[in-house]
Amino acid sequence: MSVSLLAQNLHGSEIIKIAGEINELKRQGQNIANLTIGDFDSNIYPIPAELKQYIVEAYGNNQTNYPPADGMLDLRESVSAFLKSRYNLSYASNQVLISGGSRPLIYSIFLALVDPGDKVVFPAPSWNNNHYSDLTNAEAIIIPTRPEHNFMPTADEIAPHIKGATLLALCSPLNPTGTMFTKKDLEEICDLVIAENKTRKAGEKPLYILYDQIYSQLTFGSHQHYDPVSLRPELKDVVIFVDGASKCFASTGVRVGWGFGPAAIIDHMKAIIGHMGAWSPKAEQVAMAKFLKQDNKVNSYLGKFKQNIQNSLNTLYQGFQQLKAEGFNVDAIEPMGAIYLTVKVDYSGKTTPDGTVLKTATDINFYLIKEAKVAFVPFSAFGTGEEVNWFRASVGASTLQDIEQMIPRIKEALVKLK
Ligand SMILES: Cc1ncc(COP(=O)(O)O)c(C=O)c1O
Repeated sequence: MSVSLLAQNLHGSEIIKIAGEINELKRQGQNIANLTIGDFDSNIYPIPAELKQYIVEAYGNNQTNYPPADGMLDLRESVSAFLKSRYNLSYASNQVLISGGSRPLIYSIFLALVDPGDKVVFPAPSWNNNHYSDLTNAEAIIIPTRPEHNFMPTADEIAPHIKGATLLALCSPLNPTGTMFTKKDLEEICDLVIAENKTRKAGEKPLYILYDQIYSQLTFGSHQHYDPVSLRPELKDVVIFVDGASKCFASTGVRVGWGFGPAAIIDHMKAIIGHMGAWSPKAEQVAMAKFLKQDNKVNSYLGKFKQNIQNSLNTLYQGFQQLKAEGFNVDAIEPMGAIYLTVKVDYSGKTTPDGTVLKTATDINFYLIKEAKVAFVPFSAFGTGEEVNWFRASVGASTLQDIEQMIPRIKEALVKLK
């Protein structure tokens, strides 16, 4: 059937392909530990009890008609206060936009800023920037990153690519790696953007930064979250933040996202989101406004939730370190934030018991799914080459016990490779 070039050229999600394989094995009665999805098992990680209660109450109060196009004022004010108290960021309610989860914010940032053919610069691995570039016919400029630098991009790596670019898309803590910018690294990138913008003429688009901090409330130990505007306030006119409730309150299905930035850009995004109708449901907005105002409830939820996620990530990390110490070709990067662990399973070129040679990260992943009953996502699904034998392990849908039990199975599967 003839469809638009855009529809023809869009790539399906790699993760959904892996999910297909897992579902097939589950159908055959196998129990696979699914570390592929950037989501939560809501029986293990339910949303905050008060939030649930407020949502039910809001439906009881018939809060079911159209919300305002930019989100309910009460919620935008709650977000504004949340940003002030948690990040010391000053954004008034007219600089905040609510949408149905955070994806519409990202898409509307691209649509509001990027013309066909404009350069959009982002690191690999990173989440979905390639798809948003495809949707807007942007020229995607992909910056390879290094494990030695926790797969976070540096100013030196970005510098050769920003001349004339429209958008630099950054995320910290990063999906898929669970690693974060250090203060120094982010400062250097900010200075690069400031210097580039000084070279632009009046009337020319500046280089904007999309800063996705959706995991910023989920940071561990001494790792601290930084953002471009706090580090370099003069960037405030060119930074648009993506944030929301999906990850920090395990509320992926609740669909409340918030973006913030210069009012003029937020207004354009509001118009775009309005035409898509990608608003957050009204009852959820009413409830989220009420929940966000209660610092003690937010803190007590985050405290327990973070502890459990961190325990799972640390257990997996230590399991991989133990395998590495035993001489296996594996590695892992210390978990810093989000719900992800970066793991290496460097077994390309090895032969499975049935005589198949594992050529790519995808082959290794499918071998682990079949033999160890554990599923990760290769970084190639996040824009790296297939030769990169690093994977994302997401712990949101597993119990600590599941994770403890998977390490011996991985070991057994790796022993069988020759
Ligand atoms: C970095 C990042 N930003 C944004 C989103 C979108 O979240 P939402 O479910 O709120 O659309 C995700 C979801 O996986 C994400 O990982």
